[in-house]
Amino acid sequence: MEVTVHDARAAAGFRDDVLRVWNAVFGPVAEADAWRAEVWDRHRGRADYRLGTAHDDRGRLVGFSWGYTGQRGQFWPDAVVEKLGAAVEGWVGGHFEFVELAVLPDARRQGAGGALHDAVLAGLPHDRALLGTSPDPEDPAVRLFRSRGWHHLGLLRPDAQVMGRRASPAQSSDAVGLPE
Ligand SMILES: CC(C)(COP(=O)(O)OP(=O)(O)OC[C@H]1O[C@@H](n2cnc3c(N)ncnc32)[C@H](O)[C@@H]1OP(=O)(O)O)[C@@H](O)C(=O)NCCC(=O)NCCS
Repeated sequence: MEVTVHDARAAAGFRDDVLRVWNAVFGPVAEADAWRAEVWDRHRGRADYRLGTAHDDRGRLVGFSWGYTGQRGQFWPDAVVEKLGAAVEGWVGGHFEFVELAVLPDARRQGAGGALHDAVLAGLPHDRALLGTSPDPEDPAVRLFRSRGWHHLGLLRPDAQVMGRRASPAQSSDAVGLPE
């Protein structure tokens, strides 16, 4: 298993492979063109975007993850502030948004998901990170996140919780160029 992190420019070449994994993990997208424009390219254009890729020994993409700096004025951060209010005081705006994480079913439980998570978050200057995920504590992704220092901040919808994670003191002291 090889896990690598790419900036927005380098990520461009992985678009079709990522869509293949996305379709297998989340179900086929309704319109590939809309996904390319409204998900892939829009997110890739955000500040500090980074894509993590996991390839197996045969060079097959088996998982991916991405995130970027989230800001007020964007749809998801604004929805989090509006819904959670005081519970997310000091969290939203200039945070790292951990947006996607997916591993093909036949490649799971071999460390790819955890390695993708760790690689995408490694060395970030941000002092806090946010994500949205299932509210089910038994969900594999939620178990992964909790084991890596994320905790529940509130429910965005009945089927979606917001989790937050502060950088460790060691990371914070290394932080440079903090947004805000
Ligand atoms: C969540 C997901 C990425 C995990 O990928 P993975 O490669 O299986 O993860 P790992 O093998 O690195 O497991 C890391 C940790 O996650 C937890 N975990 C993963 N799968 C689990 C499962 N089926 N049951 C319980 N815990 C699980 C464990 O804590 C595990 O650590 P351990 O193996 O030391 O016990 C994968 O299950 C997936 O793609 N799920 C569907 C998409 C999804 O839910 N994405 C997140 C949306 S926010």
